[in-house]
Formats: sequence, structure tokens, C-alpha cells
Amino acid sequence: MRIDILTLFPKMFEGYLSESIMARAIKNELVEVNLIDFREFSKSKHKKVDDSPYGGGAGMVLGVQSVYDALVSIPGYEKANKILLTPQGKRFEQLMAYRLSNQPHIIILCGHYEGYDERIRDLFDCEASIGDFVLTGGEIAAMAIVDAITRVIPGVIGKDESHLNDSFSNNLLEYPHYTRPSEFMGKKVPEILLSGNHKLIKEWRLNQSIKRTKERRKDLYIKYMKEQE
Ligand code: ADE
Repeated sequence: MRIDILTLFPKMFEGYLSESIMARAIKNELVEVNLIDFREFSKSKHKKVDDSPYGGGAGMVLGVQSVYDALVSIPGYEKANKILLTPQGKRFEQLMAYRLSNQPHIIILCGHYEGYDERIRDLFDCEASIGDFVLTGGEIAAMAIVDAITRVIPGVIGKDESHLNDSFSNNLLEYPHYTRPSEFMGKKVPEILLSGNHKLIKEWRLNQSIKRTKERRKDLYIKYMKEQE
């Protein structure tokens, strides 16, 4: 999979892309991530990419020209899945991560400033948000989305670290985990996990997942129960 990220701050991604699972996925050529500084495509004398809004008002608006020129410079951009990041977008969820992980080519635009010139929106297939809060720019959202997509690409996470039991993969939150020691400051690991009875352990984990989801995420619990009907 190829991911192109249009950003004014490519350096923000350096640490993130050079560590841990992302670095390994890139090294193993399971994903290719290209950072494109669209300021370089500005035709203005001082490489300006924003301007004041028509009609007045506070803040600056990201203009369409540099974004358009950067976008069309990407080979195969027409066919790519083009995502614009904004708090106004559709909430990014695990299902979207699974769907996007099957795409050969994704382009992501990170915004800054007060907003986008509305004509930028027309260049993209969809708008995504990582939650109901406003970040200073789209870079952290892009990292979150690239991370969630990459970890479900087959081969990125080893068999032992399977993502198939992840929270959200079946509308349930994950069950509680424990590791050594079996007792810590008087708190014991549930007996059943030490029993070696895999059937009972599986049942216990499912029940714990359901209980936790019901307590913490009623919305997911309702979806889960509907699916069981
Ligand atoms: N840019 C600023 N805030 C954002 C958010 N919550 N999601 C995606 N992009 C953003």
C-alpha cells in the first residue's frame, strides 16, 4: 500500500515513522509513506499557502492552488482514495481502518489554519475526523489514521499479536489481561486464567468483554446485541 500525506510540517512525522511497528512495516515494504510539503507547490513569491477569508472574519483560510498542484503531482492520484482531515469529517473508526487497509493507494491532506477553501473539499473523496475535538492541525490525526490502517495490513503484526481480538473488531471492548506475578499487593489473577482450561477461559473472556462493553460503551453494546439476534 502507498500512502501520500500532504502536509506543511513533514518533520512532525519523522519520529513516528522511524520507530516500532511503523518502521518495521515500511522496512518490510508492506506500506510506503511519502510526505509531500505542499508549500513547495505555492506559486506566490513568499510561498504563501493561506489567505484571509472572503467576506471577512478571523483567521486564515488554506487556499486551493498549492493543494491542487501538490495533489496532481502524485502519480496515480486520480484513482487513489483521497481523504481530507477535518473535525467536520466522518468519525474515523476501526471498520474504516479495515476497509482502507485493502486500498492500494491513499492520499491524506492535513489542514492547518482556520479552515479550507471550500473548493479543496471537492478534490477529495471523503472527510475524516478522529474525534470531537479540534487539533492545531491534521498531522496527529493523519498519524493516528495511518497507524490504525497499517497495523491491520496482513503481515504487519505477527500471528501472536493478532489484531482480530482487538477492541472494536467485533463491537466489543477487549477483556482484561494479566501477566506475572499471579499475585501483586494482595490482588490475585482470576483463578480461571491459571486453570489451563481453554474452553472456560474463552467463555470467561467473552463474558468479561460483554460486561465491560455494557458498562463503558452502551452504544457498542447495543450494536453487539443486535448482531447476535
Ligand atoms: N484537524 C483538526 N482537528 C481534527 C480532528 N479532530 N480530526 C481530524 N483532523 C483534524
